[in-house]
Amino acid sequence: MKLAGKITVVTGAGSGIGQAIAQTLAAAGARIAVVDFSETGGQETVRLITEQGGEAFFVQADVSHRSDVERYVKAVVERYGRIDILCNNAGIGVAATVTETTEEDWDRVLAVDLKGVYLGCKYTIPVMLRQGGGVIVNTASVAGMVGVLNRAAYCAAKAGVVGLTKSIAVDYVSQNIRCNAVCPGTVDSPWIQRILSQQPDPVAERQRMVERQPMGRMGRPDEVARAVLYLACDDSAFVTGSTLVIDGGLTAR
Ligand SMILES: NC(=O)c1ccc[n+]([C@@H]2O[C@H](COP(=O)([O-])OP(=O)(O)OC[C@H]3O[C@@H](n4cnc5c(N)ncnc54)[C@H](O)[C@@H]3O)[C@@H](O)[C@H]2O)c1
Repeated sequence: MKLAGKITVVTGAGSGIGQAIAQTLAAAGARIAVVDFSETGGQETVRLITEQGGEAFFVQADVSHRSDVERYVKAVVERYGRIDILCNNAGIGVAATVTETTEEDWDRVLAVDLKGVYLGCKYTIPVMLRQGGGVIVNTASVAGMVGVLNRAAYCAAKAGVVGLTKSIAVDYVSQNIRCNAVCPGTVDSPWIQRILSQQPDPVAERQRMVERQPMGRMGRPDEVARAVLYLACDDSAFVTGSTLVIDGGLTAR
């Protein structure tokens, strides 16, 4: 197993892409700390992993709060004594152009999507340094690489995640810490289902969304999770500071 016994934190693991990452890494042998602010979602992920014969426990935390991040890092270190892999995946979005974005929405999106990654790294990297290394995989987005209509704060936050990923990669390359990001395109998660359900005609909107995809379909959470597995394991030993795009060709044209 590629990740046998590796102690792994996955944030936003209570739903969608994070849940798939947690399950995929657990199936590869990792022991998972499921971090999410949703107790229901987090416990469901623990149940799914345990059912498939894996090991997981839940820590409720808001990744944008320093004290919560310190608490989840402490909980994992108290239990296992180390953190081998950190997947900063929790994220939120707001649909608005820059002029429409309220200051509250701007602050909240940046706090969860970018500050959450900063805090996760800030408190986990010292643990990794003590143990002689580790791996970080951040969930960015194609919205961090190209402009996506009506997503000003989200694009800014995800571009920030790409920059932070590269910065960490160069700062810690000689200390055996690798840091990479995945950049998913449109992935059929509960997030997308929520966005569609808010539209006047969700079925027609889903059809339009699918038609925008070069492959004629959206991605699946497990397709992102397998890219994260690659970046988390030794198959990618020479890869750091990279952004792996998983978008079915969306940004290629
Ligand atoms: N679905 C897509 O099309 C898509 C595309 C590109 C990138 N992404 C990114 O993938 C990640 C996961 O998205 P998803 O589609 O699975 O969304 P989702 O809404 O299905 O899941 C997000 C999870 O994060 C948790 N979460 C949100 N804010 C949190 C906080 N402050 N602290 C702790 N947990 C929090 C939620 O409770 C939820 O369980 C996000 O970073 C998102 O930006 C998604």
